[in-house]
Amino acid sequence: MLPTIEWQPDAVVMVDQRKLPGQEIYVRCRTAAEVARAIKTMVIRGAPAIGVAAAMGVALGVRQSRASGTRQLTVEFTKICDKLAATRPTAVNLFWAIERMKRAFGTAVQAGASVDDIKARLEAEARAIHDEDVEGCRTLGHVGAEVVPAAARILTHCNAGALATAGYGTALGVIRAAAEAGKVATVFADETRPFLQGARLTAWELVRDQIPTTVITESMAGPLMRSGGVDLVVVGADRIAANGDVANKIGTYTVATMAHAHGVPFYVAAPLSTIDLSTPDGDHIPIEQRPPREVTHVGATRVAPEGASVWNPAFDVTPAALVAGIITEKGIARAPYAESLRALFD
Ligand code: MRU
Repeated sequence: MLPTIEWQPDAVVMVDQRKLPGQEIYVRCRTAAEVARAIKTMVIRGAPAIGVAAAMGVALGVRQSRASGTRQLTVEFTKICDKLAATRPTAVNLFWAIERMKRAFGTAVQAGASVDDIKARLEAEARAIHDEDVEGCRTLGHVGAEVVPAAARILTHCNAGALATAGYGTALGVIRAAAEAGKVATVFADETRPFLQGARLTAWELVRDQIPTTVITESMAGPLMRSGGVDLVVVGADRIAANGDVANKIGTYTVATMAHAHGVPFYVAAPLSTIDLSTPDGDHIPIEQRPPREVTHVGATRVAPEGASVWNPAFDVTPAALVAGIITEKGIARAPYAESLRALFD
């Protein structure tokens, strides 16, 4: 399985996703601040992977604290959590993971645990978040494979694979499980401008797994669907609101609209940690704006003239009405989502 992120006693190690597929380079983050920088600069990206990185960043930061008592440790812990929470605003897994670390910290402090015990408990919690994510992806992958027809031609957008999670993937988890069941004819990987997660990362993962892969630019998805070339769309999510609206990589809304227009089922695959029942609908999901350079340049090459301004939202919102189902490790939620999503947590 792809080594997305690994806990080591003195570091959090992650594959540098900015360099793939050309180079497989590993980044050692030795402090919580370095983990925060890695999240912000997209060394690691993808909602569940960001959550795991944040949890490990918290555990690493606390481990390195020289606090002699819990009072001082609490002050440092809060600062570490705040720093990690300020990295990327849209993927709710980041905040979900930090909340979990806060609960683990609070429980340990209340139980009168020593500083060393608290450090050990936070490390165990971060490892648990990692392992549960891999397990959850495998489960949701197999749940989702049921909706994949035989000889399926599946389109996906961005990268919701092993690299975007602790392992196996969400949308790619569904595709992997369907491929294991012999159901996948080919996968169309949207290039995913401007960061090219589809062309660089999704295609890399699928080719490694020997799953037939065709890279297209997103502008090709509509005509491809119109020609009858796509049986099903599966994408991941960064945050799913209580009403079923889905924030995912910019371009997803266009794909969903095209799928709807051509009668192609559009599925979202995500773990429960991506569902945010406290956000009522998509209008309340904060959308990250990324630096203009991601749009004006392809790699090191400038493709837009100096002086042109740039709009670069990293995500968009797909209305629940366009979503055929939300595939999770607890089953597939279908409309009306206000009820079906809530029921997943019962
Ligand atoms: O900006 P990114 O690369 O972090 O965005 C990632 C996505 O939008 C993914 O599709 C989403 O996080 C699902 S990952 C399982």
